[in-house]
Amino acid sequence: VIDIRSLYAKSGAFTFDPGFMSTASCKSSITYIDGDKGELKYRGYPIEQLAVNANFLETCFLLKNGELPTQAEYDAFETNVRTHTMVHEQLTRFYQGFRRDAHPMAILVGVVGALSAFYHDSLDINNPEHRNIAAIRLIAKMPTIVAMAYKYTVGEPFMFPRNDLGYAENFLHMMFATPCEEYKPNPVLARALDRILILHADHEQNASTSTVRLAGSSGSNPFACIASGIACLWGPAHGGANEACLEMLNDIQNQGGVAKIGEFIAKVKDKNSGVKLMGFGHRVYKNFDPRATLMRETCHEVLGELGLQDDPLFKLAMELEKIALEDEYFVSRKLYPNVDFYSGIVQKAMGIPVPLFTGIFALARTIGWIAQWNEMIGDPEQKIGRPRQLYTGATTRDVKPIAQR
Ligand code: ACO
Repeated sequence: VIDIRSLYAKSGAFTFDPGFMSTASCKSSITYIDGDKGELKYRGYPIEQLAVNANFLETCFLLKNGELPTQAEYDAFETNVRTHTMVHEQLTRFYQGFRRDAHPMAILVGVVGALSAFYHDSLDINNPEHRNIAAIRLIAKMPTIVAMAYKYTVGEPFMFPRNDLGYAENFLHMMFATPCEEYKPNPVLARALDRILILHADHEQNASTSTVRLAGSSGSNPFACIASGIACLWGPAHGGANEACLEMLNDIQNQGGVAKIGEFIAKVKDKNSGVKLMGFGHRVYKNFDPRATLMRETCHEVLGELGLQDDPLFKLAMELEKIALEDEYFVSRKLYPNVDFYSGIVQKAMGIPVPLFTGIFALARTIGWIAQWNEMIGDPEQKIGRPRQLYTGATTRDVKPIAQR
């Protein structure tokens, strides 16, 4: 690692590094990834152990506070989160302003940003109490806000949160219950959703987290910063990948299924086609994404529980995975399945509509964004983010009046 700040101070030299391929934008003690080994740790704990021995709220506590909670700390944290699951009644009117066919991410960007207009008592970023209550509010309200985005688009009434349920169960209740019909969350599905949330909770300086940090570096309030992260996450190269992956599987299925995989792979290899194998490849992992291994396991569990092992889309995905893992194009470029390859299949099997997949990713990643934002605010070396550029435009030109141009 070369710290080039002194080089800049002495000579004004700077590096040209589009996409931050070799530039660390910050120091962080939250998440560690070894992309070559396929390792992911939150605060030093391997993701494989967290996925088995902790739930999502424990993971939130860990990412936010640095340590796993004791039982007493957990109980207090859970109670605190439960106290804040409702949203302001006036916020519900924001939803009415959207078209019914709006993408849930479009709704989320607007509604989460709008939280800044409701919680003036948590906007002072220099006050640790304000930062803490903003964090709790975001963790608590995101499931409500995401579920409301779904209910609005299908024209069903919003469901109040049920605080006697666990975090994932409550989300499923707000999604699938109606005023006339109670929803009894299936424990296998609730646990699968909880695992999706754990696996997506943080991933160090990915595009959306870097966006949150950059927005926050100017002193913006946490709700506005998280809204900027949601906007970035929406893209198909990032959080939109599981939605794009499922669309890709549907397309192949509609064109003939497994028999058409060869044709599809040929298109992916043709650089002029612009077609990518969605759910494959990662900027950092040049090995199996450890989250993908866990999500693959969950995928089998959920499909088994629901009796969907013979689901044609799942079979197609398994065949596509097998072929790609043996293909020279993918092997030589170290392109392996990422978590999104399987998470879309799991969510679809659970009955979650495809356009909501990225919203659930945003719900999970909110804690990562909060933890990273908090870390940045507390870092004495933190400066406003201000990348340099390599100017390639015109040299000085004279402006002629419009009649002479
Ligand atoms: N399908 C086909 N080829 C690919 C893919 C893919 N999914 N991913 C990378 N490649 C190729 C590139 O074309 C490039 O080929 P070349 O060397 O012949 O030019 C080579 O592999 C290296 O790829 P880069 O684009 O340099 O890799 P980068 O790190 O910039 O991109 C990314 C990573 C954006 C994730 C990319 O792999 C991709 O678009 N994957 C599909 C989308 C996806 O699944 N995103 C989810 C990421 S995980 C997450 O957000 C939780």
